[in-house]
Amino acid sequence: MSNKISNNFSKKLINWYSVNKRSLPWRNTRDPYKIWLSEIILQQTQVKQGLPYYKKFIKLYPNVISLSKSNEQDVLKNWEGLGYYSRARNLHKASKIVVKNYNSKFPNSYNELIKLPGIGDYSASAISSFSNDELHPVVDGNVYRFISRLFGISTIINTSSSLREFKIILNKLISVNNPSDFNQAIMEFGALVCKPKTPNCKNCIYNKVCFSFKNDRVFDFPVKKKSSKPKSRFLNYFLIIDKNKKIMVEKRVEKDIWQNLYQFPLIETDKNLNKSLMQDYLKLNKLPFLEITGLKLVDSVSHKLSHQNLKINFWINHVEKLNDSSIYLGELSNFPFPKPLSSFIETFNKFLK
Ligand code: ADE
Repeated sequence: MSNKISNNFSKKLINWYSVNKRSLPWRNTRDPYKIWLSEIILQQTQVKQGLPYYKKFIKLYPNVISLSKSNEQDVLKNWEGLGYYSRARNLHKASKIVVKNYNSKFPNSYNELIKLPGIGDYSASAISSFSNDELHPVVDGNVYRFISRLFGISTIINTSSSLREFKIILNKLISVNNPSDFNQAIMEFGALVCKPKTPNCKNCIYNKVCFSFKNDRVFDFPVKKKSSKPKSRFLNYFLIIDKNKKIMVEKRVEKDIWQNLYQFPLIETDKNLNKSLMQDYLKLNKLPFLEITGLKLVDSVSHKLSHQNLKINFWINHVEKLNDSSIYLGELSNFPFPKPLSSFIETFNKFLK
């Protein structure tokens, strides 16, 4: 590694951070519980989107005991709209483990944190350095981008070997006296200056030593794996509503997207089917005991996930009387639904007539 860069790197970075950092609530605490919560929310989520969820969760669950006493369904409901719901399921699971095995005292060391569900190297490094000044460099997307541009590293990122390689470099750069600010600062620098599409190289404090800037190759880094083609899925949801204004819902129990969230009866197909085929399919395979006579398509929406393109069709059919697995329409808002379904439910009243 060039000495020109490593000398002074952390001092310059921490100085830059002290002037330019955003004031964020999880930066004013050493409480590992609050820091954990923020880091889980901020994985795969921008600060702007995550901040209101952080505030809501701290209010509802101010400590690990309150979180452990809630139930998974409520946690998922409060997580609704944030996506990657395994984070919420693991959050709840981990809170129970901390209460049981750690006497409700949230761990602040890397070696204990890494044992909890939902915590990998990044989160364990972040939480143990922010709450306990342990010397573990964080490697997230911001850090991969900044460091690969600075040194011109062509290794494909987000693999276990790239993690090892970047950790070796960062272990030489990290401030031994202040790992907490160093880690906050390096992520903040990636988020505010060394940005993916609009890096502010002109005003960057490292532009005289940055490999990619000096070689006019800023957008060649970081090197990513070729992304696989997103899978297309066709989800057909059936709003089966009776005269008492009850509607059928079910829980998604399979190991798939949205596990443990709720939905309407679903038929997944490999292409869009017309009404008559849909009606036959529904009668034969999904709801043989119901009178499906007036099926109507009421809405179609597209929804993109990171590796899936969903085409979602909402069909409606009124029936006389439903019994089990149905709830009152007014109760829908108590259940956690995936984002495209909760958005549909919000504008749903007009389809009820
Ligand atoms: N992204 C992940 N962790 C973060 C943090 N502590 N502050 C700001 N953005 C982050």
